[in-house]
Formats: sequence, structure tokens, C-alpha cells
Amino acid sequence: MKDLFDLNHKVAIITGAGGVLGGEAARYLAAQNVRVVLLGRTLQSLEKNAASIIDKGGSALALSCDVLNRSELEAVRDKVLNNYGAIDILINAAGGNKAGAVVTPEQTFFEMSMDDLTEVVDLNLYGSVLPSMVFGETMVAQKSGVIINYSSMSVAEVITRVAGYSASKAAIENFTRWLAVEFAQKHGEGVRVNAIVPGFFIGDQNRKLLLNEDGSLTSRGESIIQNTPYKRFGEAHELNGTLHYLCAEASSFVTGAALAVDGGFQIYSGV
Ligand SMILES: NC(=O)c1ccc[n+]([C@@H]2O[C@H](COP(=O)([O-])OP(=O)(O)OC[C@H]3O[C@@H](n4cnc5c(N)ncnc54)[C@H](O)[C@@H]3O)[C@@H](O)[C@H]2O)c1
Repeated sequence: MKDLFDLNHKVAIITGAGGVLGGEAARYLAAQNVRVVLLGRTLQSLEKNAASIIDKGGSALALSCDVLNRSELEAVRDKVLNNYGAIDILINAAGGNKAGAVVTPEQTFFEMSMDDLTEVVDLNLYGSVLPSMVFGETMVAQKSGVIINYSSMSVAEVITRVAGYSASKAAIENFTRWLAVEFAQKHGEGVRVNAIVPGFFIGDQNRKLLLNEDGSLTSRGESIIQNTPYKRFGEAHELNGTLHYLCAEASSFVTGAALAVDGGFQIYSGV
């Protein structure tokens, strides 16, 4: 019988693979015998993650690449096709926020920096659109592939402060649905496009917002835990099952979906 979860010898490109969630996705997929290509701007953190995969007998290639730079992405595509002959999975985990696109309780909306807002939209929207364009074209030519974008809890419900981040994540979640339909209508069922919607996972960008230096919760961290039925933050490895499902044949009829992995945060009214 066919193994619905077999990922053996697939080739996955993971952007933002020097980060917390992208790094975990790379390690997990490599452990499933996927040949992983780690992309990001800082070669040092990518090489560290790649080395830990290779040490365990996995296949990993670290390449420096800005997800907003088309010629760098094309160079990656050519290199990956040369090395492996296919691109089966694209995980768009590069993303983030900037201080000027945040409105703190002491500030008003009118003080928001348009430059920072533009950078945040560029990264979280175009930073997934452009890789989907460059690597998605290869997938369409192959007639098979999987693209996974990263949305946020701030799309379905308002999360205070993070104005630019929320708007850009809403845009990438919407684009996920749009591209799913576009590929299905023009190219058949080969290339699926979905999003993962993580709840709150401690990462480099949100650590200071959620935890004090002594590890206790900030008041914002406290209110997130209050509003999470599981009463805790997620662990990066808890996204692996959903990622695996979305990458595998098991989800062959799933496209344009946004799957929440959030300990119940999104469906809880707080009452
Ligand atoms: N951690 C969470 O709780 C959480 C929740 C919801 C959504 N997300 C989203 O998941 C994704 C991964 O988050 P994370 O917590 O691992 O963040 P992270 O900051 O640990 O990792 C993001 C990585 O993207 C890289 N990056 C930034 N700009 C880039 C560019 N132009 N080109 C290439 N790489 C670039 C960064 O260097 C970093 O290594 C992001 O899109 C984030 O918004 C995270």
C-alpha cells in the first residue's frame, strides 16, 4: 500500500532557515530523508543548521540568498536543479517585523514609519511571492510541487501593536488562496499552495515582547497565555506534523488552506 506520508528523496527549499521555525522545519524534513536547501541572508547561521543535519547523516545545502532579490533566487534555483534535478517543496519561512511598523501603547498610529511598514510588507508578502514565482515555475514545469507560506494569528483577529505585520500576513494568507486557485485552473492539480498559521512560539523576534529577562511572562505574554486554551506557548517541533502533512501525498486534495497550530488560541473567545 502507498505510504501517504513518504517524503523520501524529495528536494525542499526552506527560506529563513537560519531562524527558529525555518531551522526546525529543515531539521525535521532532513530527518524524513528530504534533501534540504537552507536559504537566508546570514550564511553563518545557515551553515550551523546545515552542519547539524549533515552530522546526523542528512543532506543539507546552505545558500546565502535574500528572498527579495530575484537574481539571487534564480541563481539558487539553477544550483538546486543542477545538484538535485528537481524542486519538490518550498517552505517560505522568512518573515519578520520592524520596530517602526509597531504602534506601542505610548504611541499613536500617526507616528508609524512608512519606511518600516514598507519593509515589513516587502518581507512578509513579496518575500514569499517572489520565491513562489521563481521556484513555482519549476514546479509547474515538473507538474508537481508544494508551497507552504507562514501566516499569523494576527490575520483572523486583531492583535494590538503589530499593524504592519498583521496587514502583511493577511496579504500573504490571501495570496496563498489566490495562487492555489490560479495554479489549479491554469496548470492542473500538480502544485498545491497552503499556509501554516502558527500560534505563539518563542522566537528571536518576539522573545523580548513575551518574556522578561528572568524568563517570567511579560503582561503581553500573560494575556496570550490567558487566551490560549492549552495555557502555554508552542514548541517549534509542534509544527512538524502539520508541515509533514502539507508536504506529503496525504494532503493531495488540500490547496489554499490555512492550518492553525495554536493550542486553540484562534477559536477561543476568552470567555
Ligand atoms: N515565532 C512565532 O511565534 C510565529 C508566529 C506566527 C508566524 N510566524 C512566522 O513564521 C516565520 C518564521 O518565524 P520565526 O519565528 O522562525 O522567525 P525568525 O526571526 O527566527 O526567522 C526568520 C528568518 O528569516 C530571515 N530573513 C529575514 N529577512 C530575510 C530576507 N530578506 N531574505 C532571507 N531571509 C530573511 C531572518 O534572518 C531569520 O533567520 C515568519 O514568517 C514569522 O512571521 C512566527
